[in-house]
Amino acid sequence: MSTVTSPVVLVTGASSGIGQAAATLFAERGWRVAATMRKPSDGTPLAALPKVTVLPLDVTDPASVDTAVAATLDRFGRIDVLVNNAGYGLFGPFETATDEQIRRQFATNVDGIFAVTRAVLPTMRRQGCGSIINVASLGGLITLPFLSLYNATKFAVVGFTESLSFELAPLGIRAKYVAPGGVATDFAGRSLARTFHDNEHAYSDSLSKVMTAMTIRRDNYSTAASIAEVIFTAATDGTNQVMYLAGADAERSFALRQSLSEAERLAAVRQHSGL
Ligand SMILES: NC(=O)c1ccc[n+]([C@@H]2O[C@H](COP(=O)([O-])OP(=O)(O)OC[C@H]3O[C@@H](n4cnc5c(N)ncnc54)[C@H](OP(=O)(O)O)[C@@H]3O)[C@@H](O)[C@H]2O)c1
Repeated sequence: MSTVTSPVVLVTGASSGIGQAAATLFAERGWRVAATMRKPSDGTPLAALPKVTVLPLDVTDPASVDTAVAATLDRFGRIDVLVNNAGYGLFGPFETATDEQIRRQFATNVDGIFAVTRAVLPTMRRQGCGSIINVASLGGLITLPFLSLYNATKFAVVGFTESLSFELAPLGIRAKYVAPGGVATDFAGRSLARTFHDNEHAYSDSLSKVMTAMTIRRDNYSTAASIAEVIFTAATDGTNQVMYLAGADAERSFALRQSLSEAERLAAVRQHSGL
């Protein structure tokens, strides 16, 4: 980093999970941190850390994005790294999803990243340096049944980030994505919306098989702190690497995916999902 004072990171969705762990880690490593979240008024342990400024930011609200970026620049004068972490899952049959559920999933996981990235890019361009780290998912590289809309958003994040990396490189700006596998956060609770309310739909048999298979596997999840380490590495390793798999399960699954034919891969997903 070319800064004399400590570098600055802006993190979205820092109220919990991976975002909170990332904001904490950057602060522990001496960075100045704009820890942004929808409702700072709910209270956050980050507010007690000396190098952290907590700011309101809802990625679906363009005015709040602009205000938070302006407040970060006001406070710190620069932004070296943007961590686009805010996001949530939408699980269930595609057919039963409402228009509003589909809109909100893309507004948060995809348009939200576009909005914050566009708000920060002019600053990074002026600086002649910066890194944008997008939290994608293994679900942006591999699909699972009943995650069609979440998969669609995370595949979009992966494609967006890789393409962006080419056009930003000549400006000294890096775009990278981190793809975690399963992480022990509250993602499967507070951050997993459902497209169905009961079992009264045509997909109920296969849906319950998939839900059983998902529940069994939760014990080998990564910690949010370990994903934060991968985010920190992506932000600071000085390389042009774009994809960072995060977690042993993500590395294993992606390696397997690369080694299989399409027919083998689809069969493996069916078997893994109990279908
Ligand atoms: N946990 C996993 O297994 C896993 C795996 C792969 C990828 N990921 C990705 O990791 C990221 C973080 O998830 P997590 O596991 O840490 O879950 P989490 O603890 O539930 O965190 C999700 C965060 O996103 C925030 N958020 C949601 N909508 C927002 C909006 N409109 N504006 C600003 N912030 C918003 C939430 O804020 P509020 O407190 O306001 O709700 C929360 O801080 C997500 O992008 C997720 O897709 C998670």
